[in-house]
Amino acid sequence: MHDSFARTARIVGLGGYLPERVLTNHDLEAIVETSDEWITSRTGISERRMVADGEALVDLVERAGRTALEDAGVDPAAVDLLILATATVEQPIPASAAIVQPRLGLANAACFDLSAACSGFTYALNVARQFIATGEATTVLVVGAECLTRYLDWTDRTTCVLFGDGAAAVVLQPAPQGEGILQIAWRTDGTLADLIAMPGGGCRFPPWSAESIDKRLPFIKMRGNETFKVAVRALTEISQAVLASAGIGVEEIDLFIPHQANQRIIQAVGQRLGLRDEQVFSNVHRVGNTSSASIPLAMVDARDQGRMSRGDLVLTSSFGGGLTWASTLFRY
Ligand code: ACO
Repeated sequence: MHDSFARTARIVGLGGYLPERVLTNHDLEAIVETSDEWITSRTGISERRMVADGEALVDLVERAGRTALEDAGVDPAAVDLLILATATVEQPIPASAAIVQPRLGLANAACFDLSAACSGFTYALNVARQFIATGEATTVLVVGAECLTRYLDWTDRTTCVLFGDGAAAVVLQPAPQGEGILQIAWRTDGTLADLIAMPGGGCRFPPWSAESIDKRLPFIKMRGNETFKVAVRALTEISQAVLASAGIGVEEIDLFIPHQANQRIIQAVGQRLGLRDEQVFSNVHRVGNTSSASIPLAMVDARDQGRMSRGDLVLTSSFGGGLTWASTLFRY
């Protein structure tokens, strides 16, 4: 976190896309031994979206990216850089960002994927901001997108009820210091890498290996209860760190958009930060945990509901596999 550059980045366009298929808690009751009551009371989630057969990550990225570019009124050929935050790539090679490039007409953009699980979008925002601050880039498209339902073990009720699919994007351009993105902090603790993991499907346990198949390794696994406690602590700490660095008090925040994993985490963090309920945004009930897409999808909903307007001071904080956690303070 430092502000030695003459300029920062601001959001000039915002757009999201959710697959059409809705998967409700009642639908899940027919798949695993669970109940709408359990899921709602433990997580706040009522429904989530799921990609259709034949639909995949890049389809979501294309829709979200195009909407954000239109919202910004930016010519796709003017984009210098596409950073796609995702943990659920279209295929291992090439990068999903490269696959979507021609579909979006980003003919002059360098394109790469960034992997930081649920903190991916905020990590990507920080990378984009550095490129803009140094003058290496003028227009950057940052997308957070996930097809998590393709990596869920539908026999594991402790994970399959939590996650959903979706994508959302922002277009960033230069702004003078004091506008746009004011502060970003990011952290990693790899000693806790096994709390949230997809242990198979990579080069140690390729998807076709006996271990992968026998032990169901290419699926998301999470030690939820332990994760919950670390998430509350980490989200609170990093939010306070960003506010302190910026010299901003909690009462000055117009909207706090935390990672949408669990309503109980959102409430606990809001209370620890001393925020009023109306300062805290949540849409986890309708989208579930969409990992990298979580924060930007919540930004889209907040804007569409009139809860995030131009000039508002917004704090976002994310937490996920890695472990990674990160926070951004920006003026929208
Ligand atoms: N339906 C019914 N019962 C269930 C279900 C279910 N879907 N899932 C678990 N249970 C049972 C458990 O088996 C357990 O039963 P037992 O007491 O007989 O053993 C009981 O419910 C309680 O289980 P806990 O795991 O203790 O439940 P908890 O209250 O902790 O809620 C949850 C679980 C929702 C996963 C919560 O811990 C959580 O949200 N954790 C944090 C998730 C998170 O923040 N992830 C970060 C980002 S994810 C990423 O980066 C990809």
